[in-house]
Amino acid sequence: MEKKATWLVIHPSALLIAFILKQFLINSTNADVFLWPIPQSISWGIGPPIIISSNLNISSPRQMDLNRAVVYYRELILSEKWLPVQASANPTSLPSTEAATNYSLNLIQIKVEDISADLQYGVNESYSLIVPDQGGTATLETVTIWGAIRGLETFSQLIRVPSGKSEGESIIEHGVAIHDEPKFAHRGLLLDTSRNFYPVKDILRTIRALGHNKMNVFHWHITDSQSFPLSLASEPLLAAKGSYGERYIYSQKDVAKIVRYGRSFGVRIVPEIDTPGHTASWGVAYPEIVVCNNQFWVPPGVAWVDRFANEPGPGQLNPLNPKTYEVYKNVVDDLANMFPDTFFHAGGDEIKAGCWKNSTDIQKFLQENHTLDEALTRFINTTRSFLTSHNKTTVYWADVITSTVAKVDPSLLPPSSTILQNWDAGSEGTKSLVQKGYPVIASDVDWFYLDCGFGNWMTNNTNLDQDFNDDPGNTFNWAPQGRGAGTGGSWCAPYKSWSRIYDHDITANMTSEEAKLVIGAEVSLWGEQADGAVVDSRLWPRTAALGESMWSGNRDAEGRKRSGEANDRMNDWRFRLLGRGIAAEPLQPLWCLKNPHQCDFVQ
Ligand SMILES: *[C@@H]1O[C@H](CO)[C@@H](O)[C@H](O)[C@H]1NC(C)=O
Ligand SMILES: *[C@@H]1O[C@H](CO)[C@@H](O)[C@H](O)[C@H]1NC(C)=O
Ligand SMILES: *[C@@H]1O[C@H](CO)[C@@H](O)[C@H](O)[C@H]1NC(C)=O
Ligand SMILES: *[C@@H]1O[C@H](CO)[C@@H](O)[C@H](O)[C@H]1NC(C)=O
Ligand SMILES: *[C@@H]1O[C@H](CO)[C@@H](O)[C@H](O)[C@H]1NC(C)=O
Ligand SMILES: *[C@@H]1O[C@H](CO)[C@@H](O)[C@H](O)[C@H]1NC(C)=O
Ligand SMILES: *[C@@H]1O[C@H](CO)[C@@H](O)[C@H](O)[C@H]1NC(C)=O
Ligand SMILES: *[C@@H]1O[C@H](CO)[C@@H](O)[C@H](O)[C@H]1NC(C)=O
Repeated sequence: MEKKATWLVIHPSALLIAFILKQFLINSTNADVFLWPIPQSISWGIGPPIIISSNLNISSPRQMDLNRAVVYYRELILSEKWLPVQASANPTSLPSTEAATNYSLNLIQIKVEDISADLQYGVNESYSLIVPDQGGTATLETVTIWGAIRGLETFSQLIRVPSGKSEGESIIEHGVAIHDEPKFAHRGLLLDTSRNFYPVKDILRTIRALGHNKMNVFHWHITDSQSFPLSLASEPLLAAKGSYGERYIYSQKDVAKIVRYGRSFGVRIVPEIDTPGHTASWGVAYPEIVVCNNQFWVPPGVAWVDRFANEPGPGQLNPLNPKTYEVYKNVVDDLANMFPDTFFHAGGDEIKAGCWKNSTDIQKFLQENHTLDEALTRFINTTRSFLTSHNKTTVYWADVITSTVAKVDPSLLPPSSTILQNWDAGSEGTKSLVQKGYPVIASDVDWFYLDCGFGNWMTNNTNLDQDFNDDPGNTFNWAPQGRGAGTGGSWCAPYKSWSRIYDHDITANMTSEEAKLVIGAEVSLWGEQADGAVVDSRLWPRTAALGESMWSGNRDAEGRKRSGEANDRMNDWRFRLLGRGIAAEPLQPLWCLKNPHQCDFVQ
């Protein structure tokens, strides 16, 4: 789990190349090239532009995932014809290709040290990309094929057409030497396919967009209380009865396709089957293993604190029924075959006491002087052994050890094979978890939740009948005691803007030893108000902000926050994503992109 959070990159070969190129530009960006995420170390030459040969060849070792990536990137490099939308703040007079010498680039030679290293947590993603001043052959040297895929992405972003031309030959402005690797090993997105359904094509496009941002984890929150959209060989009834219907089920073939597609972009697919809470959908097939299902979420006469779930659709697995474990084990055995990743997210969040106490079994258990902590412990300890028998590293929401309703004794969750994901305790929460020795994934709601700020979705709220000025302090909120009163009813408003995501330091206030345990972060798109139709604009370009902060950080070489500098690159990247078929939302009026710094805010 050990992972250096930050390190200085002074690469001996970078200095050598810089010497060969006779100039080491301190600026890491070239005026007319906008890279995202910005590499950790880049030095440009000063020669004339190099034309990208229309017969560009990419030679690489034979490896299926890499070969798929090569086919994809070669096509992208030759067809993209990128002309930046963002105007340069420091324009250089880019020589037209006619004026240039006949330097052209014919080959990218990929050399991989170890083609057998699998796509798993912590795999080496570093790469060195060198484009000689005179063109010819570019070399991309990496430790693993996954680093080669990162390098191909960077190469694709270096290419553009000369200003004033929208077609014809693509160029790279000068020779360049790039040495790059990520700061954090885990750079992800959580997508929830239970509340609403995302067709497979939308999931594939999302994974491709993650790859473009050098992000490497698709945390697939597959099931929840609302639907069970995954078809399983040993438990076919779960999807047959618990999904929204035949059209809303992922087949085993779909999963295989998603996993394979992820590999060609270096994106791990980490499945989450959230239990024992969030499981009403299991109860359609197996009512006997789920408690408090088929009830209204806040039954009449039941106090708010005793409600059965945090949102409509209550149901929690019964930890006292042996049948629960039979079904769970079948589910895990099937998923272990479908998902090669060593991480398995087993949920564990938001147990509601009111729900479990609605079961006569559990009422009796408590009368026998047992506790809800013991009930959860029995469930987690038993189900975890099913996962560890498949050599899985178990990931849980931090609730499993921090909840005041039901928690597990941490001694049963060894940090060597357990990762905790923090969502609701802020940076201090992440810190308290690493202080207990756990590797942690940061996904703090106040910074990283992409579903916030979209208003109320509960019905029969009489506030909805009013002509409302939504000022702070009103109670137009489906959860009056919850976060965000006066926020149009969004439980976690405000909307998290790209710069809010970008500027958040997930290791703030930690010692360097503590910081090493923070393995990375995820932004989360919960699915109550999102599906395939809007997924691109919900995710992009905000998810890209996390992509860069996790890859090369959010600070410049002097340690200052750099969202100002990042803005131009981010703007151009948004348009480039559009060109690549990702319907990312605009961040500013186009006027600001055409008039650099005219939109600056001056106090
Ligand atoms: C690409 O380059 C490799 C290595 O130099 C060579 O073996 C191969 O024939 C080339 N392919 C094409 C289509 O030029
Ligand atoms: C990846 O490999 C490079 C080159 O050998 C090395 O400098 C770097 O420390 C490695 N990174 C990790 C995370 O192992
Ligand atoms: C479960 O909750 C419902 C709604 O409050 C109630 O009518 C029922 O009696 C409860 N069942 C048990 C076993 O507590
Ligand atoms: C539960 O604890 C109470 C108080 O300590 C005791 O009176 C009772 O006998 C216990 N019940 C059982 C079933 O152990
Ligand atoms: C946890 O499970 C293991 C078997 O996997 C068992 O040996 C141990 O007794 C259990 N501990 C508790 C507290 O249930
Ligand atoms: C788990 O890992 C051990 C040790 O590497 C290995 O012997 C065993 O076959 C693995 N089991 C599974 C199910 O992969
Ligand atoms: C760091 O600690 C200070 C002082 O306790 C606190 O004000 C600040 O909010 C913390 N920063 C983060 C990002 O949690
Ligand atoms: C929701 O509104 C309808 C129509 O006013 C009403 O009949 C129903 O009882 C309401 N439901 C609840 C749970 O309040």
